Amino acid sequence: MTILVTGATGKVGGQVVRQLAERGLDVRALVRDPATARLPDGVSVVRGSLPTVDSSVFEGVDRLFLVWPFFGVDGLGDFLDALPARRVVYLSSSGGAQWAEAAEAVIRSRSLDWTFLRPTGFAGNTLEFASQVKEAGVIEAAFASLARPYIHEADIAAVGVRALLDDGYIGKSFELSGPALVSQTEVARTIGEVTGRPVRFRELTPAQGAEKLRSAGWAEELVTSASAAWAHMTEHPEPVTSTVEEVTGSPARTYRQWVIDHAGAFSPTATP
Ligand SMILES: NC(=O)c1ccc[n+]([C@@H]2O[C@H](COP(=O)([O-])OP(=O)(O)OC[C@H]3O[C@@H](n4cnc5c(N)ncnc54)[C@H](OP(=O)(O)O)[C@@H]3O)[C@@H](O)[C@H]2O)c1
Repeated sequence: MTILVTGATGKVGGQVVRQLAERGLDVRALVRDPATARLPDGVSVVRGSLPTVDSSVFEGVDRLFLVWPFFGVDGLGDFLDALPARRVVYLSSSGGAQWAEAAEAVIRSRSLDWTFLRPTGFAGNTLEFASQVKEAGVIEAAFASLARPYIHEADIAAVGVRALLDDGYIGKSFELSGPALVSQTEVARTIGEVTGRPVRFRELTPAQGAEKLRSAGWAEELVTSASAAWAHMTEHPEPVTSTVEEVTGSPARTYRQWVIDHAGAFSPTATP
């Protein structure tokens, strides 16, 4: 069985590749730049840039773990039509994100054997704060009262791997979250405790927070949509679910565990 993974250098796609490879499965990783992709031995690496890839990428593929790294679905239908496999596990999103719902609709319209993973915010999003933490021991952001049930990418991948390998998951959607809500101040405190170097949280106004995102290179559309989503979540937090444990048999990893696993990224000696 050959399993194609897109977004194979990313947070979740990378974990899916690793977990499949650890099981000795035949993994084909689609990457844009094989020279910089650091993937486990034995993984077959194919070059391609979505949405259009060479037909050789699909040869002999039985299953697909789909990361569609766009906020639109242009090209998704053609990509799926070129796929010889019927089985697709798609990394979607919780909260009814418009782009995720649109992609799910395209997948459903192809009458594939699909499974949708709908995670809340990734713990990996807090890597966004790494340079501030390293440079000044501070996290400056808007929405101090924002709390999210950050989920470890390894848990999303673990559910994805089970869905890829077990037909019992066909036609099902999984709302995935970490085990508890974690506030922005807890994010700062946890990073400080784990790295042994205190990190404080300084609240910005929404306008200052948006400007900080712009200066970090975020596209205007993303600044607007993310700021609106965070403002909404301060009043209506994302739900905490027990789905990871129900599917994998292991409790969802905590945010603290995620920081332990990525402590090097927040260390002053780490390179960006
Ligand atoms: N972050 C969240 O909180 C969250 C929550 C729910 C759902 N999601 C969704 O999860 C998905 C993955 O997000 P992520 O944060 O895991 O992203 P990520 O870690 O940055 O991974 C994105 C992956 O997509 C690849 N990629 C980007 N553009 C590509 C292209 N044109 N052709 C081929 N590959 C391309 C990247 O490869 P390179 O190494 O070449 O850049 C990378 O492997 C996205 O659809 C996102 O919207 C995210």
